[in-house]
Amino acid sequence: MSNISDIRRSFPVTRSKIFLNHAAYSPLSQPVVDVMREYNEELSRYEIDETKYNLGKEAFAELVCGKEEEIALVQNTSTGLNIVANMLDYPEDSNIVTTDLEYPSAVYPWLKRRLGVEVRYIENVEGKILLEDVEKNVDDQTVAITISHVEYANGFRHDLKSIAQIAHEHNTFLVVDAIQSLGVIPIDVNKEGVDFLTASCYKWLLGPAGTGYLYVRKDLIERFEPPFIGWASVKPEVFETIGFWEIRQLHLSTTASRYEIGSPSFVSFIGAATAIKLLLAVGIEKIQRQILKLTEFLMDSIEDLGFQLTTPREPQYRSGIVHFLIDKPEEKANRLKTKDIVVSARSNGLRVSPHFYNTEEEIECLIRELKAM
Ligand SMILES: Cc1ncc(COP(=O)(O)O)c(C=O)c1O
Repeated sequence: MSNISDIRRSFPVTRSKIFLNHAAYSPLSQPVVDVMREYNEELSRYEIDETKYNLGKEAFAELVCGKEEEIALVQNTSTGLNIVANMLDYPEDSNIVTTDLEYPSAVYPWLKRRLGVEVRYIENVEGKILLEDVEKNVDDQTVAITISHVEYANGFRHDLKSIAQIAHEHNTFLVVDAIQSLGVIPIDVNKEGVDFLTASCYKWLLGPAGTGYLYVRKDLIERFEPPFIGWASVKPEVFETIGFWEIRQLHLSTTASRYEIGSPSFVSFIGAATAIKLLLAVGIEKIQRQILKLTEFLMDSIEDLGFQLTTPREPQYRSGIVHFLIDKPEEKANRLKTKDIVVSARSNGLRVSPHFYNTEEEIECLIRELKAM
């Protein structure tokens, strides 16, 4: 796909709506719809051409610059985070460090009383989490720092590399919820020093719901026992060699598949694989540039209208999310919906989240409607 009109043709939503809500739940592209339909049709005749399909582990590994063996299939981000929370060890007096900007799924798994771990919240300063405050909260009793790479409400982006450095100085892990950043911001888990990372595909990755991936750094895979175990958790060669399941002993897989349990939704993961490949073919750097150009224009226009942004403007904190305060946000979002403009009401304001296939004209249209209100 080379130019914007070719790209937009692959997104049927562009024919009827100005969709600026990728931080919520995104529409599917035509190639994703096509591959899922094809698979289902083949399945209905029981004539599946297995060579055509895969479940996207390889594509996800490429997306985060990891290896395929470091990737497990999970249903969603919340499952990925629960797996990590429930397999780490929590000695007495240990703590978890997170922020007060998190989506519940990044924190709830650690609030379970059974884990007996203190959860420390770094307080934001005008919508930003400062590295000096991360440093102040982490100590040698910290088991993990758990954060969303991009915070869901105001779009604040963390500096993963610096946070990983702080974590590793204290021998603790960095756990990243990347659902609001993957597909927008390039991530290299090795360069940045991420230990665990998880994300669903239904937002910025433009894939179906019910699909997600968990990255576990190679040298950590065998260090922990998975909280749930099923046929998918064990070494496939055990079945392949003896022709039946060894059920008296557990031969856990040495790859991240040890964190999988049973059958995934094949059709959905086939869709997810196509969705991720589409983004990789365009190039994440290019996608990031386009999104940041659109959000820059959006932020300027919003400020010109006199609204107060809660999204930090400094380039290093920016993402695909722009949030600003407005009276009666639900009512405003509904009114925009009647004009076929889709945004979200969040935190006393509106959250606007364009993707690479949106245009400046679409942003202008949103601004005109806001002005008219
Ligand atoms: C930062 C963040 N984490 C997690 C979730 C929920 O993820 P999932 O539905 O994949 O569990 C959301 C949804 O909005 C989110 O914004």
